[in-house]
Amino acid sequence: MDRLVIQGGTPLKGRIRVSGAKNAALPCLAATLLTDSEVRLSNLPAVADIRTMVKVLQSLGTEASLETEASGFELTASLKALGNEELKAPYDLVKTMRASILVLGPLLARWGRAIVSLPGGCAIGARPVNLHLEALERMGAQIEITHGYIEASVKGKLQAMDHTFEKVSVGATENILTAACLAEGTTILRNCAIEPEIGDLARLLVKMGAQIEGIGSSTLTITGVAQLHGCSHAVIPDRIEAGTYVCAVAAACGDVVIDACEPDHLRALMDLLERSGVEFTEATGPEGRQLRVKRDCGQKLRSKDATTVPHPGFPTDLQAQFMTVMTQAAGISVINEGIFENRFQHAMELERLGANLRIDDHKAIVAGPSPLSGCTVMATDLRASAALVIAGLVASGETVVDRIYHLDRGYAGLETKLQGVGARIERVGGGRV
Ligand code: EPZ
Repeated sequence: MDRLVIQGGTPLKGRIRVSGAKNAALPCLAATLLTDSEVRLSNLPAVADIRTMVKVLQSLGTEASLETEASGFELTASLKALGNEELKAPYDLVKTMRASILVLGPLLARWGRAIVSLPGGCAIGARPVNLHLEALERMGAQIEITHGYIEASVKGKLQAMDHTFEKVSVGATENILTAACLAEGTTILRNCAIEPEIGDLARLLVKMGAQIEGIGSSTLTITGVAQLHGCSHAVIPDRIEAGTYVCAVAAACGDVVIDACEPDHLRALMDLLERSGVEFTEATGPEGRQLRVKRDCGQKLRSKDATTVPHPGFPTDLQAQFMTVMTQAAGISVINEGIFENRFQHAMELERLGANLRIDDHKAIVAGPSPLSGCTVMATDLRASAALVIAGLVASGETVVDRIYHLDRGYAGLETKLQGVGARIERVGGGRV
């Protein structure tokens, strides 16, 4: 089992290039089920979750090929969804990557049937899929849950509806948006999530011939069409990967230019950290938008409170990384986790490194600045792992982050990219993902 060994205390200096967004790539991959023509998706991050989603699609009869792009950290996938008799997404794949549920909508829309394993919970919460299933039933799907599988079918086509999601859900918005593209009639979806990844998915669907109005807003109007066709699409930059590196510089200090990112997707984090004492400069270079993050080692950070809410508010996927930054800020920071019920597992590991914090239900109270000293810590989920790596960059001495298979699910070449800006970090142990 791989681990990362980090010698802390070195400021970060240089440039890091962000890969494509995992959370845009996954719904885009699922959407390729809507057509039997070839779809080419590029700038996919070379991470485990992408490979898993491709395997799920292959289990559903998709012909797929993956090639690594020049940087070594991104992939281009060519996919042709020919389908198969069973149309079953198996438990052994779905249990490792909950986003497999995103194949349900397109399978029903294209073939009128699907068998998808219930994803089950994960480290950060119960992660129910009721919002997905209720909406599909309203569109005419018959849904049975038997032996841990969702067995869904619809006679003829899915039917359009005027539907208001009772809760903002990224996945449910993506699943139903995709299903509605081939439904009978015009579907109106209200109270949709507006994360940038949903806009990217919608732009892919439009390239495939879908008719979608309101892209970027919380009300989407989709006029169903008879069929969709192939296209090429590059997914947007990963705002959470970029935000993770922003937090690394804020915590460990230094001066780093993040290339191929989209600062407009990071405003909530940037506003908070700017008020805490971090300097940002935006520019446009040969690789598109750039964000320069600077914190001099003598520059003190001021504590800031944060509450995670749907986009464009502060993202839950940066909560753990932000907590690590606040361990180095002067004062008290109250961090509210407003999205998931169990997303503080990194807190106890940060405490072992010397952080001074307390958890009270959905609130983490962080007092700083606290000197961190290296030790062995254990990753529990994707973003918690990133928070522990950042803490290792700050801590004096050696920090070993165990179980970094969590990290490999969502970060392409994290240790290589950090080495590129001077971090003393090595991967030790078995093979790569
Ligand atoms: C997506 O998960 C992301 N994953 C998550 O990123 C991210 O944390 C989350 O959105 C919130 O931004 C992908 O895009 C692959 P939700 P998703 O449906 O779609 C509840 C990462 O680290 N809910 O917006 O599963 C749910 O329990 C991952 O990259 C229901 O109650 O999130 C949660 O409390 C972690 N019923 C809230 O809604 C449902 O049917 C928001 O969940 C669906 C969700």
